[in-house]
Amino acid sequence: MPSERATDTTPFAAMDVLERASELEGVVHMEVGEPDFRPPEAAAEAAVAALQAGDDDYTTSRGTASLREAISDYYAETYGVDVSTERIVVTPGSSPALLLALLSTVDPGEEVVLTDPYYACYPNFVRQADGTITTVELDPADGYEPSVDAYEQVVDEDTAAMLLNSPANPTGAVTSGETISELVDLAEQTDTMVVSDEVYHGLAFDAEEHTVLEYTDDAFVLDGVSKRYGMTGWRLGWAVCPPAYVEAVNRISQNVLICAPPFVQAGAEAAIREGNDQLAEHREAYRERRDLLLEAAERWGFDVGYTPEGAYYLLLDVSDLGDAFDVADVFLEEAGVAMTPGPDFGDGASDYLRASFARSTEDVREAIERIDELLATTTT
Ligand SMILES: Cc1ncc(COP(=O)(O)O)c(C=O)c1O
Repeated sequence: MPSERATDTTPFAAMDVLERASELEGVVHMEVGEPDFRPPEAAAEAAVAALQAGDDDYTTSRGTASLREAISDYYAETYGVDVSTERIVVTPGSSPALLLALLSTVDPGEEVVLTDPYYACYPNFVRQADGTITTVELDPADGYEPSVDAYEQVVDEDTAAMLLNSPANPTGAVTSGETISELVDLAEQTDTMVVSDEVYHGLAFDAEEHTVLEYTDDAFVLDGVSKRYGMTGWRLGWAVCPPAYVEAVNRISQNVLICAPPFVQAGAEAAIREGNDQLAEHREAYRERRDLLLEAAERWGFDVGYTPEGAYYLLLDVSDLGDAFDVADVFLEEAGVAMTPGPDFGDGASDYLRASFARSTEDVREAIERIDELLATTTT
């Protein structure tokens, strides 16, 4: 009999939709956050060269010194913050980094505060750490900006961690520096750990993004190469740890992960060092796709009610058409457009579909045409 923890772990709806969509021909995939842009060429070159040179042994579980230096330089160059390489632990994707952060911070029964909507996997991560979940509702009328007042109502000395995410999945909202700074102050006053998922950094096209590290060293920051460099399948991420937690994180990593593959680390290092110039072009493309979808949503009569400023997601209120799961089914089966039903992302997204515009602009246009046609035939 599987454990309670395993039984309580819910499936990830986006992956379920992907599974069904993969059985159908010619589907436009707007259900997953899989960037259409290729990784920087330097990444594949460095990974192949590393493999050919026989670089295929374990590395230390912290990651290679040169990758951690590249990550540290990235923070210095991008945000002007000093992150010593000793605070960085490299992991196979940012997802394991998040798990390590929570396992190192949360004791059984302790509270973790999430926003709602949230990234669908967050509650399951908290469950793996045997934590309890409290949510703070976000409002599209505020552009899904977290309200510090609302946090003050729930965060206290008994809170173990607050989990932040900007640019955010599933909303595409970018949290202001002021809000982050005020949440960091609240966390300091209540001895709460800030865990900041920054995996969409580099992809804010309409707002300035801020790392929590600009305001404190006493926080976990999780990031990786998946989204920024289009390297989802490489499985490479990292945790920047608060100084007092590095050894705890590393001990767990030594036991359960051992290390990220060395040639993947070599490729990621090249991406981080050489892959940033192309990001401006990518952001421009994401902005164009967002605008196409916003315009179409208005035509379809789906309320959006805010303007996503980063990442590549948009929440569409489809409550006028029916239940979000049913609408997602009709879009997929009748129009060949896959989107993720919102309920997976929290009660605050239950009337919505999440559309990802990470696929090509051509695909986005095609999806819009198909939904135009579908809605024209179903409403006449
Ligand atoms: C908010 C957020 N965090 C983390 C991840 C996982 O990223 P990785 O591929 O680095 O494990 C995703 C993937 O979609 C995400 O949307």
